[in-house]
Amino acid sequence: MHSEFILRGHVLSYTASPFVTETPEEAVKVSASVALADGRIVGCGSFEDMQSLLPQAEVIDHGAKLILAGFVDAHVHYPQTAMIASWGKRLIDWLNSYTFPEEMRFGDAAYAQEISERYLDLTLANGTTTVCSFATIHPESVDAFFTAAQARGQRVITGKTCMDRNAPDGLRDTAQSAYDESKALIERWHGVDRLEYAITPRFSPTSTPEQLAAMGALWGEHPECLMQTHLSEQLDEIEWVKSLFPQARDYLDTYEEFGLLGARGLYGHAIHLEERERHRLREYGAALVHCPTSNTFIGSGLFDMAGLMAEGQRIGLATDTGGGSSFSMLRTMAAAYEVGQLRGRPLHAAELIWLATQGSATALRMEDKIGNIAPGMEADLVVLDLSSTPAIAQRSARASDLWETVFPTLMMGDDRAISEVWINGHRQ
Ligand code: GUN
Ligand code: ZN
Repeated sequence: MHSEFILRGHVLSYTASPFVTETPEEAVKVSASVALADGRIVGCGSFEDMQSLLPQAEVIDHGAKLILAGFVDAHVHYPQTAMIASWGKRLIDWLNSYTFPEEMRFGDAAYAQEISERYLDLTLANGTTTVCSFATIHPESVDAFFTAAQARGQRVITGKTCMDRNAPDGLRDTAQSAYDESKALIERWHGVDRLEYAITPRFSPTSTPEQLAAMGALWGEHPECLMQTHLSEQLDEIEWVKSLFPQARDYLDTYEEFGLLGARGLYGHAIHLEERERHRLREYGAALVHCPTSNTFIGSGLFDMAGLMAEGQRIGLATDTGGGSSFSMLRTMAAAYEVGQLRGRPLHAAELIWLATQGSATALRMEDKIGNIAPGMEADLVVLDLSSTPAIAQRSARASDLWETVFPTLMMGDDRAISEVWINGHRQ
């Protein structure tokens, strides 16, 4: 079987962040082909140059299609797959009415396995090659997800979602059992193949100070792990946090005080931030994860992309399935554009694609492995058809440059635009 390939098309890679270059376009390099060998990218450039690198490679010609790094979804809840698009509630009622009853089912290993497979099928069909997911309180939900991803050769991150208060019977652990079970899962899974464990306290309203302290202690013992949680998503939630933690200076302080603020920390949503919180997040180089379809669907608010980028925050992009209303990172880029417009800063196509690939990889501290097309990177790729529907095709036909050709697919594209996906050098 071949393990060397040359893909021809419009290969898009980044030489810098388009948020820091003078113009977004100049952060991008477009090549005529990319060469893959043994699951890695060995180069991108002219077809002739790639052929002299890999003379035996199988050549696949994608014509006018766009070849990108696979999409990286930096904050999802795979257990919410079957209850995505649940109507009419805001965050706390939405959790109690829809989310917790569904998450209760994941103590059943067979159900966890079924939804893990379904979720990974759906995301793959949408060109997403890496996800960072919350699991449920049940260790079985972590085992099921890692097992399914491992069989597909995927780089994924997940962790047992710890909660010891303000959650129903059957969906609570304790400070001690959360520590013990998370530790056992780290030992079983972290660093196995392409799998990484994230220490996962759900958010401060569902953890006692004792549990947050236990999670902080565990992170201190395992600084190689990511830590993921939620931060300042809705105003009601923030008020609730203040009443539960009267001593805290702000929401972030409920994490900071217990050792849960760090460079490998991922803070989902981060919409309604105070000055001190922004300063501390920046100081630590912690990652904020923007979840635009969720923020509009649950009615949470408008993320300050321009302001946060300008102050040098580390920012990823995510669907937040199933608070988010889509599995698609294309739809998520469209929503990020719309939120940007509502805040007076339209994001460029080069910025949107960067957020969905390298931005998210940078948030996950995996930018040396995934999220870009460059020698040595793992060969996770997506091939986009830029005229996948009549509506998109007729608009792209009018375009006068690459970015105008790409933008209609970002705004109107769905799984029909995903022509091909590669994971670890294997065509799916
Ligand atoms: N905050 C705490 N848990 C959740 C969740 O599952 N989804 C969202 N959107 N926010 C949360
Ligand atoms: Zn979330």
